[in-house]
Amino acid sequence: MRILLLGSGGREHALAEALRRSPQCSALFAAPGNAGIAEHAECLALDAANPAAVVKAARDNQIDFVVVGPEAPLVAGVVDACAAAGILAFGPTAAAAVVEGSKLFIKDLCRDFSIPTARYARCTTVSEVAAFLDSVSAPYVLKADGLCAGKGVILTESRDEAIEAATTLLGGQFGAASTTLVCEEFLHGEEISYFVLTDGETVVPFGSAQDHKRAFDGDQGLNTGGMGAYSPSPRCTPALEQEILTKIIAPTLKGLKARGISYRGFLFAGLMLTDSGAKLLEYNARLGDPETEVLLPRLETDLLLLLLAAAKGELAGHSAVFSAEHALTVIYASNGYPGGYEKGTTITALPANSPAVRVYHAGTSRAEDGRLLATGGRVLALTGLGQTLVAAHAAAYGAVNHVRWDEGFYRRDIGWRALDA
Ligand code: AMP
Ligand code: GLY
Repeated sequence: MRILLLGSGGREHALAEALRRSPQCSALFAAPGNAGIAEHAECLALDAANPAAVVKAARDNQIDFVVVGPEAPLVAGVVDACAAAGILAFGPTAAAAVVEGSKLFIKDLCRDFSIPTARYARCTTVSEVAAFLDSVSAPYVLKADGLCAGKGVILTESRDEAIEAATTLLGGQFGAASTTLVCEEFLHGEEISYFVLTDGETVVPFGSAQDHKRAFDGDQGLNTGGMGAYSPSPRCTPALEQEILTKIIAPTLKGLKARGISYRGFLFAGLMLTDSGAKLLEYNARLGDPETEVLLPRLETDLLLLLLAAAKGELAGHSAVFSAEHALTVIYASNGYPGGYEKGTTITALPANSPAVRVYHAGTSRAEDGRLLATGGRVLALTGLGQTLVAAHAAAYGAVNHVRWDEGFYRRDIGWRALDA
């Protein structure tokens, strides 16, 4: 089977590695890919979020199956365009990707199907925002309804700052994506990422992880795409997993169906574990990054067979088996990330892969002279594996020490919550 994988991050490097492990994978292409993915796949230079370009590349390369990693191609309708062209593709349709594309859609679904989540209000004017703020205590949470490249969520202690942010957002800071806001009650607790694979009917649990969103040690600095993760989450006990599946995932799929949406793909629930149970923060229509870099190295089931079954609506009877190992990944990012950073700096040494170490590339490319260049904000994900989280942590940081790259930084405290417990 000839496969085209869309995306270029650490998530896609882990996906490429797992797809390559399948005996059914005869050829793997990636678009646009990166220098690490190029070791598993032939990389094609095309815009993965352009449906027509993806369909053309799939036809030109006799692709049997398209696998979508990130949200942008999903929201742009790549899966719909492939289906219309008779090409099998994995991932939700554009209509189903609304679970990630509209915060309000999900909050209304939670309200209508009794899914635990933070109390909220839909606001289209500053006075509506002000009225909601007066009904809750600080910190305040404001979210733009649509996708704003990770900049649409405001968390602040200051009412004045919240009003100022609401004024800017409603004033069109992100165009139509921010003309409607969701104001929320602040939830206290520990955050986990929980994943399922579904064809709209069958739900296959796909594991848990915990991310580290802030840039610096001690959860300081700006929010990022994620600076490190570990899996499984020690907080995700079998009892909690049952609670998540029955109180959150099942009613979500029921609600989507009631709204005419058949959801096929990975569904990623961002959850807050509060004193009164797990509550939904948000959904993503894809796997997480860097969560994938700690989930897939532990997956023992053939990933390709699972994705094919989900895409065809034949997931009944399938399950995903994970090893008993723990995995922890450390992101090595460009100095300045998540703000501006220099592109094209040289990485002169990387650790080797081993049973305890996976080196995933996130933002790299190969110079014509063969040098490895850092070209993104998040550049490498160094995953350690071990029988305990302590061992996985030691393996990951051991790998980090073998990186030779002067223009990068990483957090030294990935896993602190679980390791200090
Ligand atoms: P979201 O994109 O909705 O997941 O929000 C981004 C991040 O903001 C989440 O990962 C949480 O860390 C935080 N967050 C969002 N909503 C809330 C809330 N209601 N209470 C506390 N923290 C929140
Ligand atoms: N690591 C969080 C995300 O992928 O959205």
